[in-house]
Amino acid sequence: MLVASKELVASARVGKYAVGAFNAVNMESAQAIFAAAEKSRSPFIIQITQTTLKYTEPEELFALIRARGERTSVPYAIHLDHGRSFEVCMKFLRLGVTSLMIDGSLQEDGKTPRSYEENVDVTRRVREAAHAMGVTVEAEIGRLGQISGEEEAGDNLTRPAEAARFVADAGVDMLAVAIGTTHGLYKGTPHIAHERLKAVAAEVPIPLVMHGGTGVPDDDVRRAISLGIAKVNIDTQIRVAFYDTVIAQVHQVEKNFAEVDASGGVRKYDIRKVLAPARDAMCEAIKGRMSVFGSTGKA
Ligand code: G3H
Ligand code: ZN
Repeated sequence: MLVASKELVASARVGKYAVGAFNAVNMESAQAIFAAAEKSRSPFIIQITQTTLKYTEPEELFALIRARGERTSVPYAIHLDHGRSFEVCMKFLRLGVTSLMIDGSLQEDGKTPRSYEENVDVTRRVREAAHAMGVTVEAEIGRLGQISGEEEAGDNLTRPAEAARFVADAGVDMLAVAIGTTHGLYKGTPHIAHERLKAVAAEVPIPLVMHGGTGVPDDDVRRAISLGIAKVNIDTQIRVAFYDTVIAQVHQVEKNFAEVDASGGVRKYDIRKVLAPARDAMCEAIKGRMSVFGSTGKA
């Protein structure tokens, strides 16, 4: 059942769990996300980045997700992850997302910081269009990045008063916060700024979002949820599950081919023998995260 993320995240906040937002790039990853949610009876968000549209025709990926979604009784939302401009957000609105993220913390290059005023301006324009269509809006303030300790965080972590002012100025539904998480793998164990999260949650009345969920220790995730995180983004962990399995399968295929060649037989090529185990591995990884987020059994 396709719903707006606002409903999913509001229920999560009340129920003291988080909804996982998992990135899909192709048929196998989308199928793995749906399968994990159905096995876990867990609400979920399936999310797509703007760069994925360079890899696949957007209409094809959305048609696939919607067709799969029609067969599921688990509530889910389709979300644009890290929309970097007003234009990109409008494109995804037309494609049929039920929520989107306008990431106004950085400029369109994804590197250069936007000023507070620029962030509010682009976020507000996107919010006006999205809300007119009943679509939930996530925004971001602060800069994601691994920290070694709160005292070393400098100005990059989300500041409570500024976050509260931003939410009031921009009128969004969920807020991604910088609390020491980063995209991709961490060097060593990440340090999560729970005290800062607590201070932000005390000032900001809307559900908070953790980006860079891969590699954050389970206890840190649970503590962050207890402090106000209601959506956790996971991308890299799905990629790792895919890569690890594909590499192992390819090694197996090479071994089989060598045996076939040595015995004078004929090689058989079956793409599914590589991709089906990779899909299963992604599904298992996602199920594991749903369990940590406490969303298992909530659908
Ligand atoms: O927006 C996506 C995420 O924040 C995912 O981060 O790749 O570290 O899991 P991750
Ligand atoms: Zn992110």
